[in-house]
Amino acid sequence: MSRAELVDLGLAAFFHDLGKIDTPLEILNKPGQLTEDERKIMELHPHQGAEKLVQLREFRRLPLSAIHVAMEHHIKEDLTGYPQYRIKNDINLYSRIVKVCDFFDAITTKRVYRKKVFTRAEALSLMLEHIGTEFNPVILKAFVQMMGVFPVGSVVLLSTGEIGLVVENNQETRFLLRPRIKIIVDAQGNKIDGEVVDLTEIDPETRKYKRTIVKEINANDYGLNVADYFLAQAEA
Ligand SMILES: [Fe+2]
Repeated sequence: MSRAELVDLGLAAFFHDLGKIDTPLEILNKPGQLTEDERKIMELHPHQGAEKLVQLREFRRLPLSAIHVAMEHHIKEDLTGYPQYRIKNDINLYSRIVKVCDFFDAITTKRVYRKKVFTRAEALSLMLEHIGTEFNPVILKAFVQMMGVFPVGSVVLLSTGEIGLVVENNQETRFLLRPRIKIIVDAQGNKIDGEVVDLTEIDPETRKYKRTIVKEINANDYGLNVADYFLAQAEA
């Protein structure tokens, strides 16, 4: 995509859930399952979002695709989902992209209505089970490839006993398991604002890798808020 298209995509994505302004808070924040009636109200938000965008005084500054994205981001690749169109049988490319990102974000971050928070690797494998029905195959494959085995934001336990946050993936396929990592918990279990290390780094004495990922862990189980680290980085 060109830079201009990416800007449009970003803006459209930013406004995709605008319609939720009209969804009552007790429905948005309800822990557990929605009733049939509540679900119907919830499912109005794509239409309400599209409507709001059209009515915005500054709408001319927004890409037209923002309306598509607001309207279509809960429509699945097999055209089920909501809202149900009677005539339309194709979905806008940007809507398909936002659907993938929105779904991934929803299941990997803490939400009141969902008990389980998926690790990033779990989320990708769950999504791959719905390739072609829920998600567009080409977009989902590109997404999975871009995210890598341990997507940026994954929290991982290292062979040294430290816990780190994946901040950048290594683009070389042979180093897919060796991203760059910010150390956030030291080997003694203290939360620290540690350095960023490269897992391809080799210890000159032992000639082995200094650190290796043992497993991905769930940040919430350790009381770690991943967003804080990225916010701190953005402010720095
Ligand atoms: Fe939505």
